[in-house]
Amino acid sequence: MSNKQGKKSTSLATKTSTSTLSTVPATKDLFVIGKREKPKIERPVPWVEKYRPKKVSDIAYQDEVIAVLNKCISGSDFPNLLFYGPPGTGKTSTILAAAHEMFGSDLYRDRVMELNASDERGISVVREKVIKFAQLSAAAKRPDGQPCPHFKLIILDECDSMTKAAQAALRRTMERESKTTRFCLICNYISRIIEPITSRCAKFRFKPLHTDIIEQRLQTICAEENVNCEKDAIVELVKCTDGDMRKAVTFLQSVARVRPNETVTLADVHEITGIIPETVIDQLVQVCHTPSYEKLATTVKNVLCEGYAAHQLIMQLHDYLLEQMSISNEEKAVIFDKIAMVDGCLLDGADEYLQIMDLLCTVMQQFCRS
Ligand SMILES: Nc1ncnc2c1ncn2[C@@H]1O[C@H](COP(=O)(O)OP(=O)(O)OP(=O)(O)O)[C@@H](O)[C@H]1O
Ligand SMILES: [Mg+2]
Repeated sequence: MSNKQGKKSTSLATKTSTSTLSTVPATKDLFVIGKREKPKIERPVPWVEKYRPKKVSDIAYQDEVIAVLNKCISGSDFPNLLFYGPPGTGKTSTILAAAHEMFGSDLYRDRVMELNASDERGISVVREKVIKFAQLSAAAKRPDGQPCPHFKLIILDECDSMTKAAQAALRRTMERESKTTRFCLICNYISRIIEPITSRCAKFRFKPLHTDIIEQRLQTICAEENVNCEKDAIVELVKCTDGDMRKAVTFLQSVARVRPNETVTLADVHEITGIIPETVIDQLVQVCHTPSYEKLATTVKNVLCEGYAAHQLIMQLHDYLLEQMSISNEEKAVIFDKIAMVDGCLLDGADEYLQIMDLLCTVMQQFCRS
């Protein structure tokens, strides 16, 4: 693999080019006269990288973003960009694919600089790295004579973790270097980006992916990787991803490894994702209908002994109870209010057993009131 790129873009190039293969031969599979090549070493590549979209058109579900971005790429009016949205929805993939389309692999290292949360991004880095790179001029032609954009691109990934001072230092640079440089800022929480920066960028919101899209993608990957997966196992997998494609693909790779060459079942999915089987939730809710504290305590102890996470349990309880038509809105309001409080306590490190008991006692009170 070519390694002539600079430090940052080398890691990028490695990321994107290895993504085309699941196993990459460490050496060429060739014999050079008089010189024997070393045996081929197969290196596994995570499926999220292998299936990272390589072209902007491969990005699923973000149609509005892609349509506008394609116009920007083909025209000369490429603005500063701000991508925001939940994890695993294609923000980084989109800008990497767009950068490759605009500059081609030859120009990529000269024209694109990526900084992410793993890089130090205080004010000194903005002053030293970003401003220096932004000041370099850029021609509108590739070495082979093909036209290309006349600017360079600075990608500031995960920029919601940049300090406010560093963001402030960017403001002037974005304006001053606008002839030669475009910025693409990427974050999960737009509220953490200072107003003067957001107003200098065209904003693109990435939506959580629809379950059908994730399901389709997982089925394609299963077909490519020869993984046999039961239909309800895929559906369950998709259900717990909250529109995060990265999470879905990572879970799929994990379940496929549990028992290689065997069909992936619903039980495998529960095992890997930590989803609690519906029968367990059902059992907990049923026990709340009988006004026996002892019975409830024993059931909760048994469930927690299985190793299920309390946070997962309250989330699933919430979804389960929400769907129950037999519970009145008033009862739901009291229970969900309690769920929110229990969630906060769990985050603060409260005891799981006591919190679950507290919640289920509230459920029991509501059920046994009538
Ligand atoms: N819209 C999408 N279409 C196809 N694949 C996607 C999409 N979004 C995410 N993926 C898959 O998920 C992986 C992670 O995507 P990406 O790095 O672009 O997410 P992100 O939005 O930048 O997330 P984060 O906010 O956590 O950085 C990709 O490698 C790809 O396999
Ligand atoms: Mg990202």
